[in-house]
Amino acid sequence: MSPEDTALTVPKAELHLHIEGALEPELAFECARRNGITLPYADVADLRRRYDFSDLQSFLGLYYTGMDVLRTRQDFTDLTDSYLDRARKQGVRHAEIFFDPQAHTTRGVALETVLDGLEASLATSEQRFGVTTRLIACFLRDHGPDSAMATFDELLPHAHKLTGVGLDSAEAGFPPDAFAPVFDRAREAGLRLVAHAGEEGPPEYVWQALDVLGVDRVDHGIRAVEDTALLRRIARDQVPLTVCPLSNVRLRCVDTLDEHCLPRLVDTGVLTTLNSDDPSYFGGYVGDNFHAVRQELGFDDAALREFAANSVRASFLGAGEQDRLL
Ligand code: HPA
Ligand code: ZN
Repeated sequence: MSPEDTALTVPKAELHLHIEGALEPELAFECARRNGITLPYADVADLRRRYDFSDLQSFLGLYYTGMDVLRTRQDFTDLTDSYLDRARKQGVRHAEIFFDPQAHTTRGVALETVLDGLEASLATSEQRFGVTTRLIACFLRDHGPDSAMATFDELLPHAHKLTGVGLDSAEAGFPPDAFAPVFDRAREAGLRLVAHAGEEGPPEYVWQALDVLGVDRVDHGIRAVEDTALLRRIARDQVPLTVCPLSNVRLRCVDTLDEHCLPRLVDTGVLTTLNSDDPSYFGGYVGDNFHAVRQELGFDDAALREFAANSVRASFLGAGEQDRLL
């Protein structure tokens, strides 16, 4: 792709990005070295060769193993700097960044270490990278609602550093409705709400995210195409979907990109955005996702500009801040 390619240059917001999934193998080995940890991989190339997933769970194993090298505040700062620098080069002007508090606190890394490390990077992101940012703390659904509630109690004193909460990790067998109490508390605290739903899980989970959790956006949501009434509802209410095409292929939610439901979503009038999810693991950052859907699904540059405008409209920026990017 040339540096002038619209896929890279169009100003865009990234709304579905797990910061732990932006850990490039080189930085993983560097963090391991300085923290005295031995990774169970021979080298960077050996680790990259394992990025061959059969489903969400097979990815999550590597994702949680990889992030074990993140121990110090500096590790989280370096990780965030690395993402922001790459995102900037792909036209990202605003990023709403997910992090997984429980994935760190359960292995003995303090929430303050994580937040301080992220914040140290984000505080100067606009000056250094021209990228404004927001933070979204995600609950791990496979850790259950009680752990989510305890995590929310820990997050509450830091609520001013957050824009919202989300729900991620293993989906099938963990319906969203169990998390209604913690989402209610987050709403009362003035936080915005998002949830992964309809990535591997059924359309019913998307209904629950909308009707029981009351989310502002649905992350992934692609299996909504299996339910016409649901799709109509999402289009009617203009509930944004944060779609991650390269992720969907790598996790085998779709067989090949040319079979992706993205054209159907667009044709139905769904407010659709393009995102990278876990760019280090899934073969590309957000501009690479823009490029891929043009190559494989026939979207033209005008359509890419529309996806970019959608990302700004679907962001949690205020109207004035959105206008700056539209
Ligand atoms: N799905 C669910 N949880 C996740 C993902 C994903 O694609 N990436 C990181 N955590
Ligand atoms: Zn995700």
